[in-house]
Amino acid sequence: MLAQGSAAAELAGRVAVVTGASRGIGEAVARCLVDAGARVALLARGRERLERVAAGLGAQALAVPTDVADADSVRAAFVTVAREFGRLDLLVNNAAIGRLHSIEEASDADLRETVYTNLGGPLLCSREAVPLMKKSGGGQIVNIGSEAVLNPFPLLSTYTATKAGLELFNRGLRAELRGDNIRVTLLRSGATSGGFMEDWDPDEAARAIGLWDEQGYLAFAGAPMQPSTVAESLLHAVTRPAGASVDTLELRSAG
Ligand SMILES: NC(=O)c1ccc[n+]([C@@H]2O[C@H](COP(=O)([O-])OP(=O)(O)OC[C@H]3O[C@@H](n4cnc5c(N)ncnc54)[C@H](OP(=O)(O)O)[C@@H]3O)[C@@H](O)[C@H]2O)c1
Repeated sequence: MLAQGSAAAELAGRVAVVTGASRGIGEAVARCLVDAGARVALLARGRERLERVAAGLGAQALAVPTDVADADSVRAAFVTVAREFGRLDLLVNNAAIGRLHSIEEASDADLRETVYTNLGGPLLCSREAVPLMKKSGGGQIVNIGSEAVLNPFPLLSTYTATKAGLELFNRGLRAELRGDNIRVTLLRSGATSGGFMEDWDPDEAARAIGLWDEQGYLAFAGAPMQPSTVAESLLHAVTRPAGASVDTLELRSAG
């Protein structure tokens, strides 16, 4: 378990896996962990961007191209982590996708890929991470959730359902690992700059924003947080004293 003292003292020499680390919150988390002295395996599908980000972080970072929705790919990634680093202290389940559609518009691929990535990914990665953490004497798993579960937006019901499932997995996993010195944290994030919204088709995005505005969903939306803000808050959560666990960290824009 990571614990006590300054983040740098606690994380020096520790090993972390961060999924979805090629941009956004995942990239910021990887950077924060490297700055604090950890060695970090960065996972994402797109090799070129991932390798560029890892190279920018220096020798403590390793790009491990992985599809978290695919069991074989995840197994291979953790074999690489064990071989290259020899231990594992922290897993950050961050990779996710969010596509805009009503349920009747969703394709088979929309449903399968969203569920397999956002919920399946954390299950597959945790399954491989836990034995490595047990061998390392303990560890910590952080699941990145979303405030969308508190106020589900129309056209994002599939995404929201996966994040709700992730919250229940988080609770069950915490109970399962209580005796193993492995802490489990849900970081329920508010709106953050960048992200999959940038991948949305502009016309589809305009339709969604119009609908949300009309139905009052945007009335209390503040300025989005920076990915680095989420990353620094995560760092705080994983470096609490050994006797305490941050079970849920609900992070919202103060803007
Ligand atoms: N941004 C927000 O406003 C916001 C709000 C609340 C919660 N969150 C949560 O915060 C997390 C990060 O969000 P973000 O906005 O930083 O996301 P993002 O910028 O869209 O980045 C997503 C990352 O996940 C990777 N990824 C996607 N599918 C993957 C797969 N199957 N296997 C491996 N990697 C995959 C992407 O790289 P590749 O495409 O190359 O694989 C990328 O590195 C997500 O869990 C999201 O639900 C975000």
